[in-house]
Amino acid sequence: MSGMLEGKVALISGCGAGIGEASARLFAEHGAVLWLNDLRAAELNRVVDELAASGAVVAGVAGDMSDPTFVNSWVQGAIDAYGRVDVLYNNVGVSRSGLIGELSDEDWRFQQSVTLDSVFYATRAVIPHMIANGGGSIVSMSSGAGIGGNFNLGGYAAAKAGVINLMETVATEYGGHGIRANAVTPGPTATAPLLNYLATQPGGVDAHVADLDLQRLSEPEEVAQTVLWLASAFSSNITGICVRSNIRAASRRPHGS
Ligand SMILES: NC(=O)c1ccc[n+]([C@@H]2O[C@H](COP(=O)([O-])OP(=O)(O)OC[C@H]3O[C@@H](n4cnc5c(N)ncnc54)[C@H](O)[C@@H]3O)[C@@H](O)[C@H]2O)c1
Repeated sequence: MSGMLEGKVALISGCGAGIGEASARLFAEHGAVLWLNDLRAAELNRVVDELAASGAVVAGVAGDMSDPTFVNSWVQGAIDAYGRVDVLYNNVGVSRSGLIGELSDEDWRFQQSVTLDSVFYATRAVIPHMIANGGGSIVSMSSGAGIGGNFNLGGYAAAKAGVINLMETVATEYGGHGIRANAVTPGPTATAPLLNYLATQPGGVDAHVADLDLQRLSEPEEVAQTVLWLASAFSSNITGICVRSNIRAASRRPHGS
């Protein structure tokens, strides 16, 4: 049986850890030809080496996805190596906590730059190649925080809302070229940044998951499965949506429950 991405050239940003790494592993299992990235060269190289050892066709370039010059060279590198781009998964994003009235300019700019600008730069860079290729699938990581705001994470939430909106626009502008663009909005997911944060909070994981739909954290591999579906032809008429998974449910529960 062939994989869901057999022979497809897939670009993934930020895959030295967490959801990006899980996605790279799942894409490889499903036959993708991978062009990867992470800011941290050692972590990127670890993932590339492990996937190559398991038989995947994979390479990667370390660099900062919030730097448009780097992003353009990263996408061009994929074209030089493989001749086309079929899938772009924009995984990178970063959060800093703080009430809106207390966020510094730098906190605000950093979150918009890494979380939203990075998605714009990579999306812009792949569009001409996808048009030349007759289409492609762009999947971008948003967050449950991108829907309806998020207490104490307003800079991040605004950037993630922008990611959803950007994908909606790309879907409408480039659907005629066969390009699909979708976002994923997972709730809290068991990766190092969240687990480290929860370890410092009263009640830890248990308190944090109490009002999630599934009342548990999502696993990075589960989020990767949604990304794989959107990247693949199994979602061939799906565009301009965001897939919500296991986000905060409090506003949808009956009062007092
Ligand atoms: N973990 C969660 O609860 C959760 C929930 C919803 C959405 N998300 C989103 O999922 C994505 C991945 O998060 P994660 O939890 O797997 O984080 P993670 O820290 O485990 O992995 C993120 C990776 O991105 C890399 N990275 C950071 N900045 C970069 C940059 N400027 N350029 C290139 N690489 C960079 C890091 O080095 C790291 O390897 C993020 O966009 C995050 O906002 C996470």
